[in-house]
Amino acid sequence: MRRLAGKRALITGAARGIGLEFARAYLAEGASVAICDINIDAARQAAEALGEGAIAVRLDVTDQASIDACVATVEGAFGGIDILVNNAALFTAAPIVEITRADYDRIFAVNVAGTLFMMQAVARGMIERGQGGKIINMASQAGRRGEALVAVYCASKAAVISLTQSAGLNLIAHGINVNAIAPGVVDGEHWDGVDAFFAKYENKAPGQKKREVGAAVPFGRMGTAADLTGMAIFLASSEADYIVAQTYNVDGGNWMS
Ligand SMILES: NC(=O)c1ccc[n+]([C@@H]2O[C@H](COP(=O)([O-])OP(=O)(O)OC[C@H]3O[C@@H](n4cnc5c(N)ncnc54)[C@H](O)[C@@H]3O)[C@@H](O)[C@H]2O)c1
Repeated sequence: MRRLAGKRALITGAARGIGLEFARAYLAEGASVAICDINIDAARQAAEALGEGAIAVRLDVTDQASIDACVATVEGAFGGIDILVNNAALFTAAPIVEITRADYDRIFAVNVAGTLFMMQAVARGMIERGQGGKIINMASQAGRRGEALVAVYCASKAAVISLTQSAGLNLIAHGINVNAIAPGVVDGEHWDGVDAFFAKYENKAPGQKKREVGAAVPFGRMGTAADLTGMAIFLASSEADYIVAQTYNVDGGNWMS
């Protein structure tokens, strides 16, 4: 029996990386999946490659009109949404004295406001249909503890953990489970960007930071997107019905809480 048979999922930022791997995993478990991303060309390519059950919809999580249009399109195409994964996010790094207000606003608009207003838009439909649902937010080990060069991203992910708690407590009254996943360091294009920031600020050779963080993981290597799919499927399934407002570390042992 496939664990998400007949379920309808919307995943933000799913044109690449972790979101794309979740889309693949959800399809394999029998769900239909909307790949929603600001990069619509990449989203279309991804949906085409994944085949039947996958659709691509343009979404900018910083724009309320885009959120409303995307959610309406997915609800129209699938007849409803049972699972939302708030996965879209941006990363930035800088010493405190170099952080710009523009960068702060940009990161919080995607990582925090984007998560909140996507939860709101999708939860409204879930409440109306009266069949509950599952919302999974992508937090990070960065949300567990500040880092010297990563103040804004860390604060945004701490906010995601807090929003998961409040939304989880509020929406469980409607049978909607809100939980989060906190990955550690996951190899992919995102971390190529992170590596470039550390090359600049810590004067490291390209690729050096990646090797260092991988070697420091108790498991012995960086994570892959595939390492996270077990938790993403579990939290989207009925096996997680009694789990409310939690954030799960899936990070090879980097953080314990
Ligand atoms: N990769 C890691 O090491 C790591 C670690 C911890 C947490 N995470 C979190 O996991 C999630 C996925 O990470 P990833 O590595 O796959 O990232 P990624 O950068 O590879 O993918 C992010 C996707 O979000 C999309 N996006 C960006 N802005 C958007 C917007 N305004 N509206 C809609 N889509 C937008 C991008 O086009 C991209 O496809 C993120 O929330 C990230 O913070 C990643």
